Amino acid sequence: MLIDEIQRRRTFAIISHPDAGKTTLTEKLLLFGGAIHVAGAVKSNKIKKTATSDFMEIEKQRGISVATSVMGFEYDGYKVNILDTPGHQDFAEDTFRTLTAVDSVIIVVDAAKGVETQTRKLMEVCRMRNTPVMVFVNKMDRPCGDPFDLLDELEKELHIGVRPLSWPIGNGETFKGVYNLFENSLYLYEASKQTVQEGIAIADVADPQLDSIIGERAAGQLREELDLVSGVYEDFDKEAYLRGEVAPVFFGSALNNFGVRELLHCFLKIAPQPGTSQTEARIVRPEEEKFSGFVFKIHANMDPNHRNRIAFVKVCSGKFERNKAYRHVQLGKDLKFSSPTAFMADKKSIIDEAYPGDIVGIPDSGNFKIGDSLSEGEKLVFKGIPSFSPELFRYIENDDPMKAKQLAKGIDQLMDEGVAQLFVHQFNGRKIIGTVGALQFEVIQYRLLHEYQAACRYEGISLYKACWIESDNEEQLSEFKKRKVQYMAKDKWGRDVFLAESNYMLQMAQEGFKDVRFHFTSEF
Ligand code: G4P
Repeated sequence: MLIDEIQRRRTFAIISHPDAGKTTLTEKLLLFGGAIHVAGAVKSNKIKKTATSDFMEIEKQRGISVATSVMGFEYDGYKVNILDTPGHQDFAEDTFRTLTAVDSVIIVVDAAKGVETQTRKLMEVCRMRNTPVMVFVNKMDRPCGDPFDLLDELEKELHIGVRPLSWPIGNGETFKGVYNLFENSLYLYEASKQTVQEGIAIADVADPQLDSIIGERAAGQLREELDLVSGVYEDFDKEAYLRGEVAPVFFGSALNNFGVRELLHCFLKIAPQPGTSQTEARIVRPEEEKFSGFVFKIHANMDPNHRNRIAFVKVCSGKFERNKAYRHVQLGKDLKFSSPTAFMADKKSIIDEAYPGDIVGIPDSGNFKIGDSLSEGEKLVFKGIPSFSPELFRYIENDDPMKAKQLAKGIDQLMDEGVAQLFVHQFNGRKIIGTVGALQFEVIQYRLLHEYQAACRYEGISLYKACWIESDNEEQLSEFKKRKVQYMAKDKWGRDVFLAESNYMLQMAQEGFKDVRFHFTSEF
């Protein structure tokens, strides 16, 4: 039954600042799910630190990691789908888009480092969508500060309420374990990468058994701290978590397999099943009989001889079936897919069907763009897959007059894949590439040459931000465009974009034209 398949699905992403332990946690979850059998089997999307200046190496690693873009496994009757996100900040846009396809998120934080820049940015995206968030405080085997201070920092920096559902006993050298408040049991820590500790049920922390197990001093401190926890924090409210207002927090050590299973158990119990999706015309419910879905990511093959790609489709409603004709809404064409793939940890396989919450990989030779939708005929246009205002800009110029056509086509296709954004300057007609990371410029240049045989060169342009503008006050809008004619561009949909050279210029524009709205994402 469709409804049963929906109820047992959990589709989520693990996000963190690089090095907090996302890859390690992902791997341990897969070990529990039996999807892999030895640690180290996941070739994750993680881009090695040593390779940060070597974009070819990065692209190679990205290529290898197609199979781990989505990791599905069965556990305890649940179908778990973990969507991987690239750790490298230059690919943050990929991560933002992946977050549009998940129903919840687990944030990994390094206990000693607390909230870091990338965590903060990713959390902003979760907040925009009210995505339910759980926090795993990792590396408790290393010395770190007071857990109350860390929780305060989480609240303050991530702008979300927190509720510890486990509590650490010491840290670093003195780390003894955690008390699980969700199950009322004690887990004793033992540094081990292979084994998993069993919990000891202690329904009441006043139980003297606690003193004999962890010692009087630690037991006394734990009791005091738990008293404080229940005094400071409200009881855990699952509904508030589902609304994205409160994040349950777990403590552990992913590397040592500690606290991971408890996190998974609680996650499966409380995390949301696939929810509704907003389209321009209406809300789509997962249990609707007819299939619908949208493309949230496109992965290009790095082999220049095969310019094929994989479009990742998130199933939003109904049942997806192999070889059935579906409407590609934006193309207005019916298409059949003979080899849709599903991803299971370290391998991918052709599937016959998929359900809401699942991700289907569709081999594509250029039919799909990010945001495109598939349906059984209805013209559904899914919302919530915005482009973000880029931070780096360069003019892109043709470096080989004989190849102008190839260049234009190459740029078009790379933009469809979401590698970067293209703006056309209205004043001088030149093309501007906007990205969130410097690496993309190299990636684009390399791929244009190797996949499209088109040479390009860049020229610097000094811009602070590009923002989409609109207004109900037609007169003021046209006055704005007239006055700022040197700074106006169009995006790929032909919408007006204001190119601000500095923060000051942006502020002046905002002050001078009160009726003009400035947007920093393409969807408003
Ligand atoms: P990321 O995907 O978020 O970037 O982080 P990743 O899991 O790769 O972890 C970053 C580093 O932190 C790794 O060490 C990893 O072994 C270590 N680590 C992860 N969890 C824990 C933990 O619970 N305790 C401790 N002490 N360390 C942890 P590395 O030396 O950078 O890499 P590797 O050579 O071990 O793979």
